[in-house]
Amino acid sequence: MSIRTLDDLLAEGVAGRRVLVRADLNVPLDKQTGDITDDGRIRAVLPTLTALVEAGAKVVVCSHLGRPKGSPDPQFSLRPVAGRLGELLGVEVRFAEDTVGDSARSTVEGLADGQVALLENLRFNAGETSKDDAERGDFADQLAAFGDAYVDDAFGAVHRKHASVYDVAARLPHFAGGLLLREVEVLSKLTGDPERPYVVVLGGSKVSDKLAVIEALLPKVDRLLIGGGMCFTFLKAQGHEVGSSLLEEDMVETCRNLLERSEKGKILLPVDVVVADAFAPDSPHDVVPADGIPSKRVGLDIGPETVAGFAAALKTSACGDPANARTIFWNGPMGVFEMAAFANGTRGVAEAIAEHDAFSVVGGGDSAAAVRVLGLDEKSFSHISTGGGASLEYLEGKTLPGIAALEN
Ligand code: 3PG
Repeated sequence: MSIRTLDDLLAEGVAGRRVLVRADLNVPLDKQTGDITDDGRIRAVLPTLTALVEAGAKVVVCSHLGRPKGSPDPQFSLRPVAGRLGELLGVEVRFAEDTVGDSARSTVEGLADGQVALLENLRFNAGETSKDDAERGDFADQLAAFGDAYVDDAFGAVHRKHASVYDVAARLPHFAGGLLLREVEVLSKLTGDPERPYVVVLGGSKVSDKLAVIEALLPKVDRLLIGGGMCFTFLKAQGHEVGSSLLEEDMVETCRNLLERSEKGKILLPVDVVVADAFAPDSPHDVVPADGIPSKRVGLDIGPETVAGFAAALKTSACGDPANARTIFWNGPMGVFEMAAFANGTRGVAEAIAEHDAFSVVGGGDSAAAVRVLGLDEKSFSHISTGGGASLEYLEGKTLPGIAALEN
């Protein structure tokens, strides 16, 4: 990549200069209390912010949180994130009540060297996500007015052609932060020539979200293990009934086609699942064979036999020969891990990957949160990405707007 980096910016000197940092502080919040349930993304950007603070920059941080619809919505306020960021950074983080309005202007103007401000959620402004170049450009102009330089360290958002990710870079001297660079360095090992056997574990709720990456990965991987909500559409494609489990009817044919096209044994599906009466933490539940899901019951996790089978698949080839995986990529939980009764599949698969002596990458989003929420040792994985959709689109080989903008 011909991209100028944070180190280049620091070498230029930033004391007294305003540096606009795009971070991905889109952290999960408890639906009841609003508390941050996983602060991994905040921690991940600390080295960049600390370096800028120590170098005497006036640091203006911006981020999105959730998917508000272009106007202020208190449930998506970044205020709690400002508090947590301040605690972790060890310096006060001044919170602006809006993104580019009076509060933001006075907060940025009031910054002394080495101080940090966090602007309110970028997505409270329609211009951030607009498809209209002019509307996005107007918003980018207002954001860019807060910086003398721009650092993008929001790897999790580089796949979005949004004002703060794409258009601001064209308006300010731009640099990539260390987090973004490390992500690209690791993921490029997977798109390049990964050490084999290369095993990919995919979960999460929707096949439609993962279809492109499955298509891109199938020819490259040795084995593809599929769990999570998306497995039910594949099970249906195999001719099994899935009760009230999550099902994308319009994807059944596509899944059937994928199963037919792939070499025998390459795609592995669950052989048992945990089914419950309802989508609720205390719902009565049982383990049943994947081809025997009772009608009216809902599959919320993969079963123990599947966990054992997936763990074994890390050590055998598609035709059953011993073949220790040398590269593993995992994206998407195996079940509803937020509910203790349905967390065993995700925990079991995560532990099997962690124990395996391979280059292992956790592909961000919910799976990264699961590693931390379930109390697994982050150091047992070679890399835990901060990007969910971004890491998948990177693996698909797509041009990512946020990276392209930094290259210009
Ligand atoms: C993510 O959670 O993957 C990133 O923060 C991007 O969020 P988005 O999918 O709402 O754009």
